[in-house]
Amino acid sequence: MLRTIMSVEKALLNRKTVRAFKPDPVPKALIEELVEIANRAPSNGNLQPWRVIALSGESLEVLKTKAVQKLQQDGFEQPEYQVYVSPMPEPYRSHRFAVGEALYKTIGVAREDKAGRQAQFAKNAELFGAPLGLFFYIDRRLGPGQWMDLGMYIQSLMLLLEERGLSSCAQGYWSFLHETVTSVTEASTEWMLACGLAVGYEDKEAFINSLESSRQPLGEFFHLKE
Ligand SMILES: Cc1cc2nc3c(=O)[nH]c(=O)nc-3n(C[C@H](O)[C@H](O)[C@H](O)COP(=O)(O)O)c2cc1C
Repeated sequence: MLRTIMSVEKALLNRKTVRAFKPDPVPKALIEELVEIANRAPSNGNLQPWRVIALSGESLEVLKTKAVQKLQQDGFEQPEYQVYVSPMPEPYRSHRFAVGEALYKTIGVAREDKAGRQAQFAKNAELFGAPLGLFFYIDRRLGPGQWMDLGMYIQSLMLLLEERGLSSCAQGYWSFLHETVTSVTEASTEWMLACGLAVGYEDKEAFINSLESSRQPLGEFFHLKE
């Protein structure tokens, strides 16, 4: 079958976080293919430290049910790594604040509407309706260098998904429910959950998917010395 190859630039510029998916399933052969191509991501010493477990169908439903039960009974779990530093310094705090404001504005939820914001946040537990959830683990004996490698793997995969017409939402959210996730994935106790990735086809009708996140200007992060 002939398919169009997307330029890396186009994939980078087009990729965005999608937070409303259609229920259409992602073919198993397709996800296996992309997960394998992303395995070409570089890693220091070629350690290839990424470990990935995919949940779909019945197993994904079990996770969603368990997540809701866990949240109702005990609330969030203690994450195994520091997802955010506290307090968050500038300019990162402002970047985070800006995307949060833009997100709620896109769906017409006012700043003071706590319930509305919580209802949107809670959709994380349903993977925003995505039919596939990927969970990225890392051997807990490894360190920050290998987390960098894992990030390269995840971005490579997100770009490949984009090229094949699929969308995704990285979900640090699941690190606050890592025990619940691992009770379903049955990942080795030697592995630590880094994050999840909701994968599926974008619901183009959903307002939330019209959100365009901004980016810092070049001068804020790049300096060329000659
Ligand atoms: C590691 C990581 C974890 C994330 N966790 C969440 C999450 O739990 N829930 C969510 O809605 N978005 C999450 N995001 C999406 C970010 O909010 C998003 O990438 C950022 O605002 C930039 O927007 P864009 O992806 O549309 O360019 C996460 C992104 C990354 C890279």
